[in-house]
Amino acid sequence: MTILVTGGAGYIGSHTVLALLERGEDVVVVDNLSNASAESLRRVAALTGKAATFCQGDIRDIACLNALFSQHPITRVIHFAGLKAVGESTRKPLEYYQNNVAGTLVLLEAMRQADVRQLIFSSSATVYGADSPVPYRETMPTGGTSSPYGSSKFMVEQILQDFARANAHFAIIALRYFNPVGAHPSGRIGEDPLGIPNNLLPYIAQVAVGKREKLGVFGADFPTRDGTGVRDYIHVMDVAAGHLAAMDHLPQISAFEAYNLGAGVGYTVLEMVNAFEQASGVKIPYQILPRRDGDLAAFWADVHRAKQQLGWQVTRDIHQMMQDLWRWQKNNPHGYAVGE
Ligand code: NAD
Ligand code: WQD
Repeated sequence: MTILVTGGAGYIGSHTVLALLERGEDVVVVDNLSNASAESLRRVAALTGKAATFCQGDIRDIACLNALFSQHPITRVIHFAGLKAVGESTRKPLEYYQNNVAGTLVLLEAMRQADVRQLIFSSSATVYGADSPVPYRETMPTGGTSSPYGSSKFMVEQILQDFARANAHFAIIALRYFNPVGAHPSGRIGEDPLGIPNNLLPYIAQVAVGKREKLGVFGADFPTRDGTGVRDYIHVMDVAAGHLAAMDHLPQISAFEAYNLGAGVGYTVLEMVNAFEQASGVKIPYQILPRRDGDLAAFWADVHRAKQQLGWQVTRDIHQMMQDLWRWQKNNPHGYAVGE
């Protein structure tokens, strides 16, 4: 089977491409490298002994997508490409709607023209909005998102549902990731954020290698165990495995389905700092700062639907997340910028 992976050079994409290649699938990647390096795919090839076909291109460019669909026997698409920084999205909403919403419309049009009918979309826990009770269940209403990024994911889910309803032979799965972290256990591929990391684990890892002085903990006055925010962290290799399970389930989907990809448990910021210190043996200095705008106190996933319908659940715990993150960061303190 040949699978088109948009955004396949990025963090979650590269780990999923590796899992697909290891399973013997043929993979075509389209990525504009706006937030990635082609080095990730070179390393995936070295790890698996197989290479994905790589095309540097933009999902908003229908000629590029049409060429890919006509040159390769693609039957499925996994769609990671998009912009993902919540804070940046409030400053650059048009870029976020262009890449995430308009880009997906172009992809759907190209899929329709090529008669490619099966799609897995990278959605996010953020679609549950600010007022949903925890744990988040797929049956809960979505919307009420608090950033253009979150709204773009919500809008795309709406578009996919409408499109699938109108085209009965299409099968579309939205996977709502919670907080993907960690790296491949080889330490060869991992998350390589541009500039100052927005997310907790990349920031902690950069403090550990001396690139940042100390962690700022955004708020210690939340109604949680220790006052810091609670999230559902999931190992990126479990996220990749979730895509394989969703791929296998696509033939049983008649229109649109959404699944949470999470561990089903939450940890506080300070628990994560502690777990990282244990795995790495490195002390992480931190200071308590005011809450970050828009941060919720606590959320985690109800994971029953994915377990029952996809036969998938996480198999890696926070210690493995931290060990693998540390191996990646220690071996690649500058990410992909400095090659072998
Ligand atoms: P990433 O930035 O590492 O990967 C996205 C990839 O898409 C990058 O390689 C980037 O170069 C590429 N890209 C962006 N715009 C493009 C365009 N117009 N055309 C072609 N390529 C384009 O991010 P990631 O963490 O791997 O996330 C992958 C997907 O999962 C994104 O859609 C993101 O919104 C979603 N998601 C991520 C998280 C998370 O915490 N990492 C959580 C929930 C959902
Ligand atoms: C985790 C916890 C912070 C950084 C975001 C998006 C979400 C999804 C995943 C894409 C929170 C605290 C963080 C720091 C801190 N992405 N923190 N100091 O905000 O749960 O989710 O990424 O879809 O949509 O919103 O993840 O890693 O930024 O924060 O104290 O320097 O760590 O306040 O409690 P978040 P995060």
